Amino acid sequence: MTIPALLALACDAPEAAKEPIDDSSDEHTRAVAISRAAAVSAPSVDSNPEGYEIDEDDFPPRSLSAASHSKSKDDDDDDDKDKDKDKDKDKDEDEDKDKDPEPEPEPRPEPRPEPVPDPEQGPKPGSEPKPEPEPKPGPEPEPGPKPDPGGEKGEVLVALAGDMGSGSKPTAVYKLILAEKADFLIIPGDFDYKHNPKTFKQEIDDVLGAEYPVFLAIGNHDTKKWKEYQADFKARVEKVPGAVCTGDLGVESACTYRGIHFVLSGIGTKGSKGAQEQYLADALAADSSPWSLCVWHKNQTDFQAGDKPSDIGWTAFQHCQKDGSIVVMAHEHSYARTKTLTAIGSGDHGATGLPELLEVGPGSTFSVVTGLGGKSIRAWEEGVHKDDTWWGSLYTSDYWRKNGVEMKKPSADTGALFIRFNVGGDPSAAEGYFKTVDGDMIDEFDIVRK
Ligand SMILES: [Fe+2]
Repeated sequence: MTIPALLALACDAPEAAKEPIDDSSDEHTRAVAISRAAAVSAPSVDSNPEGYEIDEDDFPPRSLSAASHSKSKDDDDDDDKDKDKDKDKDKDEDEDKDKDPEPEPEPRPEPRPEPVPDPEQGPKPGSEPKPEPEPKPGPEPEPGPKPDPGGEKGEVLVALAGDMGSGSKPTAVYKLILAEKADFLIIPGDFDYKHNPKTFKQEIDDVLGAEYPVFLAIGNHDTKKWKEYQADFKARVEKVPGAVCTGDLGVESACTYRGIHFVLSGIGTKGSKGAQEQYLADALAADSSPWSLCVWHKNQTDFQAGDKPSDIGWTAFQHCQKDGSIVVMAHEHSYARTKTLTAIGSGDHGATGLPELLEVGPGSTFSVVTGLGGKSIRAWEEGVHKDDTWWGSLYTSDYWRKNGVEMKKPSADTGALFIRFNVGGDPSAAEGYFKTVDGDMIDEFDIVRK
């Protein structure tokens, strides 16, 4: 189903919300201590085929003692039950799809429709009609830049953060996104962890405003109330001038906004993997935007800093690499960004080039896990990753490596990845940075589109 772009104008962000308090003190110290203990006996991937969730709610982790193991296991069991329920729910929802009299989204993307012209792009009232601007390499004309308060004409700043939680921590991240003047936010799954779409929406609205563009991909903690999250997402995106989304939003969907194309996929979380892979391939092939992102929640063990299992398989990544689409994920609660990758799924994934200079285009891309939206922070599982050669930067509860250089870890645990496209008006230049809520620059890199 095509979601038409609607014409309402965004978006006066209201005053920042008062900070609610819901987090225990000294969480970081606790997390570090526990993660170090966990690292000693970190389970291998093979010993953890089910992929335990080790959220802060689950502390202490399974490796600390028999008692805590038992507690953790119980939590995991609950999680598994939840997963089973989620599966049932998914089944129900799939069945609902068949019965739903409302036309459901097309399973295959159509070529990107012409975006509705952004009314802010036209000549300003009262301004002199100008001849064609100077012939420097301009930004992508469709859907075209609107006045950009944060940078040069044509620049687009995208914020990316997942695994949010609720309360003061995600609120601080939303405030950071507001302060950075990001043009829009994409959340690659796991919203409030409380199955509470109202709270999740309210906390965003309180800081960024009800009409601020926020795009979602489903996470494993979002399945129980997905229909409500998705309805709110749909209502929000319909109010964003120039935003064009097609498909089953956040599950099997593709959007274009401000000249950036992004696929929002539920692969590994909802829907059949084969269908999701095919959707990705088709959606990426059908779009010709210069910048493209593949966004989903879960990941592969190789492409995150912890010991989460490989839930996606390599095919989806390979579709994105073929298209030169940047892969953005969450699920593991830390930050992990690769070098340029040219052979994803091979031994070293074809990692090449400088850690701080990434090249995207047909056959090359990079991947990022941005899972520090507020829920918790997890450790670097060195034993799992000791042979990894593809990292650009990593940031976990106990380890920070920035562009290949080990750093002394700062205090803040939460933050967001930002990517500024069309830097200086150059449609083949972008730059990325991960910034904490305290203002520390955890990662900084340039991107060249070939
Ligand atoms: Fe998750």
